[in-house]
Amino acid sequence: MEKTLVLIKPDGVKRKLIGKIIDRYEQKGLTISNMKMTKASRSTLEKHYEDLKDKDFFEDLINYMTSGPLIAMIIEGSNVISSVRKMHGNTNPIDAEMGTIRGDFGNSKTENLVHASDSKSHALKEISIWFNNL
Ligand code: TYD
Repeated sequence: MEKTLVLIKPDGVKRKLIGKIIDRYEQKGLTISNMKMTKASRSTLEKHYEDLKDKDFFEDLINYMTSGPLIAMIIEGSNVISSVRKMHGNTNPIDAEMGTIRGDFGNSKTENLVHASDSKSHALKEISIWFNNL
């Protein structure tokens, strides 16, 4: 069964949307096989967002992602990587379709509620970072 790494980012936790967001994965028939609440360190996020380290928004992203606790989850299911990315919607909530998590609840390009791995190789890497302390 395919696996993906999902984060409910600090704004999702602060806005008390954990239940509503998790409900969507379960309604879709996906399985949450591991889950924890944690406050991410800068070094964890530097590994997680390694590909973005040269972007001008990188520091804002790290500050936001360390601003409070987040939820990390491993979700399993058939085609779960693309399925969850579709459920999350476009990175920028303004462009995200209604019916997606970002489309329904998001209003900021940086504070966009959720993260999901975008490929099998990234899923393996991100699961190691968040659950095996890579
Ligand atoms: P990215 O990996 O491009 O998007 P996604 O989360 O949809 O896979 O970007 C990672 C995060 O960086 C994104 O969720 C929010 C933040 N970000 C910005 O703050 N500004 C931007 O212009 C972009 C592209 C991303």
